[in-house]
Amino acid sequence: MKGFFITVEGMDGCGKTTQTNNMVEYLKQQGFDVVTTREPGGTRVGEKIREVLLDPGNKGMNIVTELMLYAAARAELVETLIKPAVEQRKVVLCDRFVDSSIAYQGFGRNLGIKAVEEVNSHAMQGCKPDLTLFFDISPQEVVIRKTRSEQEDRIESEAIEFHNRVYEGYLKVAERDKERVKMINARKSVNEVFDEVKKCLDLFIRKGRYL
Ligand code: TMP
Repeated sequence: MKGFFITVEGMDGCGKTTQTNNMVEYLKQQGFDVVTTREPGGTRVGEKIREVLLDPGNKGMNIVTELMLYAAARAELVETLIKPAVEQRKVVLCDRFVDSSIAYQGFGRNLGIKAVEEVNSHAMQGCKPDLTLFFDISPQEVVIRKTRSEQEDRIESEAIEFHNRVYEGYLKVAERDKERVKMINARKSVNEVFDEVKKCLDLFIRKGRYL
């Protein structure tokens, strides 16, 4: 059995956390040794960086500082968790990865794809996801279906225009890398979305002969 690396992406509130939990169970049932993690975070250092990044008290943080902090947390995660786990033939399931930086910093903050890729090339050391599931739902649709009023973090509390640019960025990412990035219609019910996720996983596992 070969190891592989899957990432899940989407707007805040797209439902990816619920689906990630479902995916872990589904992959484990098939005999895979699954490791889950998240960005920013997933390591001791990364979780500290996460606190700084999401703290609403840090509103107005320089956008290049922000870009580099996400990349710093990523460097730590790639080196200490993702690479070793895939080498040990495990399946790594990561809630967000570099596509988030392209969407949020590249498009949301208008830093551009090139700057994000340059900074992140040091952090990633050639580590790329084998499969990315993009949970497709626009910021407006997320607002409509939001039921609870939770405390928003520093990024969530950005203006709707920012989130619209992020969404546009995600669509660009999906468009330019169709082979890797699979669009999941996240507007449906949890079960319907999971059916789509399972189909995607089954196809990926069969095509890559991972079982
Ligand atoms: P989470 O709420 O999904 O855990 O993600 C934390 C926030 O950080 C979310 O609003 C997206 C944002 N983010 C970026 O802006 N750039 C990145 O590279 C990553 C990984 C997350």
